[in-house]
Amino acid sequence: MKHLLSTRDLDRATAVRILDLAEDMAHTADREVKKLPALRGRTVVNLFFEDSTRTRLSFESAAKRLSADVITFSAKGSSVSKGESLKDTAQTLAAMGADAIVVRHPDSGAAHQLAHAGWIDAAVLNAGDGTHEHPTQALLDAYTLRARHFGAHSRGRDLAGLRVAIVGDILHSRVARSNVWLLTALGAEVHLVAPRTLQPHGMQSWPVTVHEHLDDALSLALDAVMMLRIQTERMHAAFFPSAREYAREWGLTAERFARLGPDTMVMHPGPMNRGLEISSAAADSSRSTVLDQVTNGVSIRMAVLYLLAAGSSGEPA
Ligand code: NCD
Repeated sequence: MKHLLSTRDLDRATAVRILDLAEDMAHTADREVKKLPALRGRTVVNLFFEDSTRTRLSFESAAKRLSADVITFSAKGSSVSKGESLKDTAQTLAAMGADAIVVRHPDSGAAHQLAHAGWIDAAVLNAGDGTHEHPTQALLDAYTLRARHFGAHSRGRDLAGLRVAIVGDILHSRVARSNVWLLTALGAEVHLVAPRTLQPHGMQSWPVTVHEHLDDALSLALDAVMMLRIQTERMHAAFFPSAREYAREWGLTAERFARLGPDTMVMHPGPMNRGLEISSAAADSSRSTVLDQVTNGVSIRMAVLYLLAAGSSGEPA
């Protein structure tokens, strides 16, 4: 594997291998010295053309725990046209000796272009491209599902038999797309729930069951319900009548949360709009995995950085 651009091309064996490696990485967080020497002498560049809190910090922390040198570049607000700016910036960073480039960009396809346009030689990790994909988020979600469901017996397992509902702004969600491909490759049954206006074209051909009403999906025995943020920054029209109406029809309200099975996990990639897609009763409950997802994100990013940037420096100690 040279780059990580999407989950669409990850097969079951590769995905399980990444999850297992992330489990090894998680154990290093329990040590007194949390660092591994795996990427000593290598340079990881974080190239963020879009706002981010947890993904940027998570990649930064993962690279540092592997002893890499880390450069973070926030290019938001650049006045240069986007294609040009991406090429110029990437070549500048490559000239500084970047071994891996973590990129977030508002254009779908930007990570792919960076990896395949022939501008640079570094490994490219997609940290979110427009509404297209966010592969490390899906990997950390799969990790969280596996760890909560199987506990100490996770290793080597996939997600066969698990039923997951992904709810909300599917149209604008790269998290939803990456999860559809990854969770189904791992054998999970995926249900997507969204108002008609937030269902993307072509979704009917995805390997999922589509619902318009949240209560229909909640009547199934679900292992997890993953709530998506309403992405107003990507909305240039009205997709639902009002926030109140949305919360009532598609939000995980306290009343809906109370109806969930006792073991159903409540997931959200963050940042959350409390009171809109998710109530505080659900977000702050013991069944919420929101903070586990953040913790697991560091282990997943350590695993993929290790696989893509360690070269021939051997297995992690
Ligand atoms: C997601 C993203 O940026 O796509 N957030 C994240 O990476 N934690 C989802 C979102 O912004 O709603």
